[in-house]
Amino acid sequence: MVQAHCQRRVQGHRGEEPVNAPIGVFDSGVGGLSILQALQLHMPAEDFVYMADNAHAPYGERDAAFVRERATAIWHTLRDEHHVKALVVACNTATALAIQHLRDAHPEVAFFGVEPAVKPAAAHSQTHRVGVMATPATLGSDKFIQLLNSLKGQAEFVLQPCEGLADAIEQHWRDGKDAPVKALCEKYVSAMGDFGSQAGQIDTLVLGCTHYPFALPLLRPLVGENVTILETGEPVARHTQQVLAERGLLADVARVGRVNFLATGDSLIGVRSQF
Ligand code: DGL
Repeated sequence: MVQAHCQRRVQGHRGEEPVNAPIGVFDSGVGGLSILQALQLHMPAEDFVYMADNAHAPYGERDAAFVRERATAIWHTLRDEHHVKALVVACNTATALAIQHLRDAHPEVAFFGVEPAVKPAAAHSQTHRVGVMATPATLGSDKFIQLLNSLKGQAEFVLQPCEGLADAIEQHWRDGKDAPVKALCEKYVSAMGDFGSQAGQIDTLVLGCTHYPFALPLLRPLVGENVTILETGEPVARHTQQVLAERGLLADVARVGRVNFLATGDSLIGVRSQF
């Protein structure tokens, strides 16, 4: 979990060299913190500005135009007010619906996205049956459908739109009530069918929304110990670090990075962080 001490050391750009400018990270809410944690582990010298667009969450049940508009507005804020040197779209839904739009409008900027780990899941699965939990918007997006089509014949994918789950996880951070999250996890896991390592069972589960790793303690007992659960924080952090290095944009290694937490709705500071 992102450390509480980072929340207290709130700062913006420190007026240093452009390489030491912060990296912007955004999500509809707390979900992107699962990505931020991996980014911090890989790049401890970097400053980050984390934006939770929680006044407009959840994204997963919105249309593409709305999510594009939000992504554009957040990019402008992070660029103009916080001078970020790159942006990590730490949201599968916004990546699916808006990242191409951002790249087309600003080809000079390094934008990084997250997408459901279906490719490593297909390579990993021994039963060739993979479950994918994601928002309805991600699963219905052209980008995701193209990704699945590129893996035709490699595995059978059981797609589970999880309406309401990101929102329930968001609420849990505020009120600590895990019953709604538990009920939705049970409903969606049972809808996907049998989990296990026997032929015909799902042996690999992809968490295709950055909120869902926070429900891992509830999901694990439902699918069993033998099922591999994949999320995207580590590969995204590795890729971000590699591209920033290639572009000469990594911060000086002697620094200690800081995080500035921002939200369009309720502040993230003081919210709960664990089930
Ligand atoms: N955490 C986001 C994702 O990865 C968005 C969830 C939502 O706002 O519906 O898709």
